[in-house]
Amino acid sequence: MENRIIFGDNLLGLKGLVSETVDLIYIDPPFNTGKVQQRTQIKTVRSDNGDRIGFQGQRYETIKIGAKSYSDLFDDYLDFLEPRLLEAYRVLAPNGSLYFHIDYREVHYCKILLDKIFGRDSFLNEIIWAYDYGARSKKKWPTKHDNILVYVKNPEDYVFNYDDMERIPYMSPGLVGPEKTARGKTPTDTWWHTIVPTNGKEKTGYPTQKPLGILKRIIQISSPKNGAVLDFFAGSGTTGIAAHELGRQFVLIDNNPTAFEVMAQRFAHIRNINWQNFDPKPYQD
Ligand SMILES: C[S@@+](CC[C@H](N)C(=O)[O-])C[C@H]1O[C@@H](n2cnc3c(N)ncnc32)[C@H](O)[C@@H]1O
Repeated sequence: MENRIIFGDNLLGLKGLVSETVDLIYIDPPFNTGKVQQRTQIKTVRSDNGDRIGFQGQRYETIKIGAKSYSDLFDDYLDFLEPRLLEAYRVLAPNGSLYFHIDYREVHYCKILLDKIFGRDSFLNEIIWAYDYGARSKKKWPTKHDNILVYVKNPEDYVFNYDDMERIPYMSPGLVGPEKTARGKTPTDTWWHTIVPTNGKEKTGYPTQKPLGILKRIIQISSPKNGAVLDFFAGSGTTGIAAHELGRQFVLIDNNPTAFEVMAQRFAHIRNINWQNFDPKPYQD
């Protein structure tokens, strides 16, 4: 597969990809889709003081009847995600994997949706990415982690390059002896990793940029060498850079012009990319 960066709504972009051609998908969708947040329910009622004139010259006013309820908001969010996840499932290779990065408030709703699409048997892991940065609440346990749900298309046959796993230091080297200490241990489903350092050279300025170290670990283990990696909420393009550095091809999609500007700079040194521009308006059925 050729490297591609597609500007436009990801539902449209996904529909243009051939079935079962992608080895690994990583996505980090935003919760605050404008679609979800901007909905306020309104109602038009007859009123002598209304500012709108209607049938037979009667006056009407528009009143707010409240914002959407919490569960309605989640219904909207899942309605936004579901068609995109169905497309993700379609384009995934038979032995492919999906990594779904989300925050602790939404993860449970999303797991139910993903179980429905992939099947519960295809749920491999919930990775906890723990970091330690920023203010600490004094009113609850400070929330310092993200969740990454991992699904495989076929639980009997999927790529998992265990031998390529990086080694990390033991927490108590004194307990395991010098040989094991020198070798290090393999990571578990809880990953301690710093956020993108605020003044490091990795930082692009894109507000939701994820660390290259997290993406490299995912791609190294869950995609074949020379495989194809897809991120259809690409943002600053971290997944593409990590894939390229590990010798994989990439397909990135985003509909935000700022993301596209950031990617144009970040990928300037990579020659063989097919840049595509779709209509950035949201896809409508
Ligand atoms: C949380 S950010 C991803 C950040 C990324 N992981 C990184 O490391 O930079 C989510 C991205 O999804 C994009 N997005 C949201 N809705 C989209 C849609 N319908 N089609 C394409 N991209 C979308 C946003 O523009 C945003 O860049």
